[in-house]
Amino acid sequence: MKIIEIEGGRQLSGTIRVSGAKNATVALIPAAILTDEEATICNVPEITDTDALCDILKILNVKVNRSTESLVINTKDMKNVSIEEEYSKKLRASYYFMGALLGKYKKVEMYFPGGCSIGARPINLHLKGFEALGATITNEKNKYIVEAKELKGANIYLDFASVGATINIMLAAVRAKGKTIIDNAAKEPEIVNVATFLNNMGAKIQGAGTSTIKIEGVDHLHKCFHEVIPDRIEAGTYIIIGALCGNPLKIDNVIPEHVDALISKLEELGINMEVGLDYVTVLNSPEILKATNIKTAVFPGFATDLQQPFTVLLTQAEGRSKVTETIFENRFMHIPYLKALGADITIKNQTATIDGPTKLKGTEVVATDLRAGAAMVAAGLKAEGKTTITNAEHILRGYEQIIEKLTAVGAKIRIKEI
Ligand code: UD1
Repeated sequence: MKIIEIEGGRQLSGTIRVSGAKNATVALIPAAILTDEEATICNVPEITDTDALCDILKILNVKVNRSTESLVINTKDMKNVSIEEEYSKKLRASYYFMGALLGKYKKVEMYFPGGCSIGARPINLHLKGFEALGATITNEKNKYIVEAKELKGANIYLDFASVGATINIMLAAVRAKGKTIIDNAAKEPEIVNVATFLNNMGAKIQGAGTSTIKIEGVDHLHKCFHEVIPDRIEAGTYIIIGALCGNPLKIDNVIPEHVDALISKLEELGINMEVGLDYVTVLNSPEILKATNIKTAVFPGFATDLQQPFTVLLTQAEGRSKVTETIFENRFMHIPYLKALGADITIKNQTATIDGPTKLKGTEVVATDLRAGAAMVAAGLKAEGKTTITNAEHILRGYEQIIEKLTAVGAKIRIKEI
């Protein structure tokens, strides 16, 4: 097991550069197999989720050439074989191979995906989309076989604007016959990045980033070169860390429109920031932060992935703040550990009530999932004394070089294997 140790209570200053977006990368890698030629993706973050997807590519006999920040994926000798559970369960995004393999071979055999335990996370909307395109689904225990004689464009309405379902249906539909329309599609920037990638390969996708996506099927996707967008969740996490300990802390390589909701909430708290074209600098935080409420929502609402780190900041605000989680039913696993660090928080249904400010004092905590882990890092940096975070593997799934980036701005943080 990996553990992270932090000597907290230090001010952080300097610049942190944001890496390529995890949630775009994990869809772009499976999407790349839709070409019969070669796809080059750059600005790929070195995180363990990238490694897990490259392992699946190798099982499919896809050539992967990885150099710093870039991936060259060649599908010339690819074979459509079953993706076993030991690979699918390593991450949620393994499910993008369902849409991509179905789109390319009209058949896919794989096990249920893994990922953070933040709720039930069913894939019914993905499967409903595949069925609408003409596929039949056989499901035994955790294994799924999805196949079709032919995939035909269809009108698909998503009951919920799911990121995963939107991308997966897009992947299955790009090489289907005729026109597919996805209504109530998710609008997250990562979806736009994946659609741009597919269009660079010759797909005909319109409307990504809006709630109606139109896809005109094509027979062939050719080679292309593509760049991953900056990670808005990594950016948001470091901006929150800046609000907790920055003096000043510049977060570079940010698309500010992607973190609009966070910036507005930080302004409500009273944080002084400079928002540039591609950076956000947290100049300083006032002695007294004002309490505020957040409610998670689909993009452009307040990102559920930033809810956990943001809760840490609210422990420092004066008065009562409320955090309502509307996307995942089990995303408060960081709260008991924040309480162990000294926070005053109660949870009722899907709302956490935080009374502050409270002094945080280092102790032993657990990274129960990726973003809960990020919250523990933020709390550990603010807390006086030593914080030890166990199960730190979760954090490495989504934050490239987190130890190095934080050390460079003055944090006392290290990772070790026990
Ligand atoms: C993606 C992100 C994750 C982020 C989430 C919401 C990736 C790899 N992960 O997860 O970091 O927190 O979006 O922004 O990009 N749902 C169903 N049926 C389905 C699909 C989803 O009921 O078939 C429900 C989920 O249980 C959840 C909600 O819809 O309650 C949102 O899920 P979704 O947008 O699909 O999230 P993910 O794609 O899993």
